[in-house]
Amino acid sequence: MLKLEGVSTEYGGVPMLRNVSMEIERGELVCLLGSNGAGKTTTMKSILRLIPLVEGVISFEGKSLKEWKTHQVVDAGINVVPEGRRLFPQMTVLENLKVGAFSEINEEEVSKRLDAVFKLFPRLKERLQQLAGTLSGGEQGMVAIGRGMMGKPKILLLDEPSLGLSPILVEEFIKTIKRINDEGTTILLIEQNAKKALSIASKGYVLQKGEIVVKGNRSELFQSDVIQKAYLRG
Ligand SMILES: Nc1ncnc2c1ncn2[C@@H]1O[C@H](COP(=O)(O)OP(=O)(O)OP(=O)(O)O)[C@@H](O)[C@H]1O
Ligand SMILES: [Mg+2]
Repeated sequence: MLKLEGVSTEYGGVPMLRNVSMEIERGELVCLLGSNGAGKTTTMKSILRLIPLVEGVISFEGKSLKEWKTHQVVDAGINVVPEGRRLFPQMTVLENLKVGAFSEINEEEVSKRLDAVFKLFPRLKERLQQLAGTLSGGEQGMVAIGRGMMGKPKILLLDEPSLGLSPILVEEFIKTIKRINDEGTTILLIEQNAKKALSIASKGYVLQKGEIVVKGNRSELFQSDVIQKAYLRG
């Protein structure tokens, strides 16, 4: 469904991603692991056409995204829950959620999608008129994922959605992400917590300094030296 082949990028002439290849099949939940500065967000930005490719091809449903603008990527069904959530703090929860469905003019469809979001996060329903900037971190995370789902994506890219949350909330988010996938949305989950991500992903990739150093299914990743050393021990 979404394929990166030999993707390289740079920031101001400095190479960042080098020869990154990944493949996400329809219905899959794939995780992209790596420590701070490894290039995870850069990978997401290249998929969204926010930064130019130096080399390589990114394709979605068989079509190259090379000439596409970011809004065309989103219209094609690739939605994102960005790093740091990026809500509009002065807008209400409801307004923030509706931003995610901006291209849908049918009100009935919009309220259907809202209901689906409330099923995932019942707590949001009680806070629709609250300003997003006054929500707790966990609630803001819920709005961010909810907003991503309001676009009815074919694939949802989540950039560290549970960063900074308490262990109990992280657990809840992981379950919800699994549920979104079970209900039919393909997912690319960017995480630093390998254990948590691999508890729900069918396969994954590990980025280090802009390169994929390990890839494989859950058990292959668990057994790999990189994961063992960097993430699971100590
Ligand atoms: N606009 C930019 N200009 C120059 N360098 C950048 C830019 N954006 C990112 N970088 C650099 O590229 C590298 C990869 O950044 P990226 O945001 O992709 O990392 P990440 O894996 O998402 O890390 P984190 O887990 O901390 O979010 C970092 O060294 C970062 O400083
Ligand atoms: Mg990042």
